[in-house]
Formats: sequence, structure tokens, C-alpha cells
Amino acid sequence: MKNDNIKLFRDGKRVDGRATDDLRPIKIEAGVLHRADGSCYLEWGGNKIMVAVYGPREAIPRHTQNHLRAIVNARYNMAAFSVEDRKRPGPDRRSREISKVISEALEKILLLEKFPRASIDVNIEVLNAEAGTRCAGLTAAGVALADAGIPMKDIPVACAAGKIEGQLVLDLGKEEDNYGDADLPVAISPRTGEILLLQMDGHLTFDEFEKALDMAIKGCNKVSELQKAAIIQKYKVELEVE
Ligand code: CDP
Repeated sequence: MKNDNIKLFRDGKRVDGRATDDLRPIKIEAGVLHRADGSCYLEWGGNKIMVAVYGPREAIPRHTQNHLRAIVNARYNMAAFSVEDRKRPGPDRRSREISKVISEALEKILLLEKFPRASIDVNIEVLNAEAGTRCAGLTAAGVALADAGIPMKDIPVACAAGKIEGQLVLDLGKEEDNYGDADLPVAISPRTGEILLLQMDGHLTFDEFEKALDMAIKGCNKVSELQKAAIIQKYKVELEVE
């Protein structure tokens, strides 16, 4: 991860000119796909992500059904052209891990007991990747689930904080992710503050960890406002057309 020849701070600013607690630019659009029950297109820095949600619908094959509640299948996929070196198409260890942690995060917030034997399928397609795709994917999934009208306690949202050249920063960019000291992706329910996902790559002291967690949660709350604005925008346009 570390490379002493790379400078991640110049004149107190990060490589892309941000201050330590700035997010990269974010654009969110809800309801962009017409065949899905809910969808979202999101750009976050250089990340470009499309999410399509289907369900609740009968879980198939039937042996996957839970007679007490719905199951959640989040599937994170990176397009072959999404990264610098072409990625071999199809699932790999990393995408299986991300699919699993996102599914588990969504299970905590969706009202699954309302839909026994059903599945809720969340397809996350990364079209362009530039660090922080699991947070961007989960954030887009939250909007797509809301667009599908699937009952949930809150709209889940994610954002990372980390450490570069000994300083804590919000929302690591590509070079910061490659050459920084630590990355801490966090997903929360903004209404209750419940943590839905927490992972860590690299090393932080306990004090740094607490500060980075606080920073990531503040970032989540800012992104949450953009999610809500995207949903309001979609339904406002629909009401104006009617
Ligand atoms: O994307 P995220 O930060 O959630 O996950 P990561 O495993 O820490 O990956 C960091 C970044 O490495 C990704 O966002 C991509 O930009 C890049 N990457 C890549 O270039 N090729 C891969 N096969 C996987 C990741």
C-alpha cells in the first residue's frame, strides 16, 4: 500500500485539491431503468454505478426460500472495462465478498418479515471504478430499493474515511486508496445511526479509528441528503407530468 515516492498532500490539499473532510462530487438519479422495479444511476468521483432492484418476488429455486421472511440477493459485479487493466468477467473472490457484506447490510434495514418465501434481488453493476465502489454501490442500492417501494426502516447509505500520510481523510480517491495507510468503509441507517457495514483495510490506532468512524458517519449523513433529493426529484417530475 505504501510508496514513499508518491505525495498525497500538496500545500495542505489532497491530490485532487480536496480538504481532508471533503467528499468527491456525487450525482444520483433514481428510476432510470424501466424494466426493473427500482433503479438508480450514481456517479461518485470517477465511479459510475447502475443498480437494478427486482422484487419482492417468489424466490427461485424453491429450496432457497425462507418461510418466515424474504431473502436478499445483492450481486456486485465489475464490468470488464471498469478498471485500468481489463478485469476478467464474472464473479471472483472480491466481488463475492462485497456481494455478501452488502446483502447483510441490506438485510438489517429491509422489513423482510412482510414477504415470506420471497427474494429481493439487487444487481449492482460497476461501469467505472475509482475507489470506494462498495460504498457507492450500497448507496445506489438504497435509492433503487426506495424507488422500488420496498418497505424498509430507512434508506441505507455508505461512505468511507481513511488515513493518508498520517492524516485522517474522508472518502479516499484512487491514489489515496492505492498508496494510503488505511481505508474504513462504513454504512449506516442515518435515522438511527445503526451501523450496517464496517470494514477496515490497513492500520489505525484505536483513537484514529474512533475519529475516522465519526468522520465516515458525518460523510454518510451528507450523502443521505443527496439520496433523498434524488428520490424527491424523480417523484416530483412524475407528479408534474400527471
Ligand atoms: O472499490 P472499493 O474501495 O470498495 O474496494 P477495494 O477492493 O478497496 O478496491 C479499490 C479500488 O481498486 C476499486 O474501486 C478499483 O478502482 C480498484 N480495483 C481495480 O482496479 N481492479 C480490480 N480487479 C479491483 C479493484
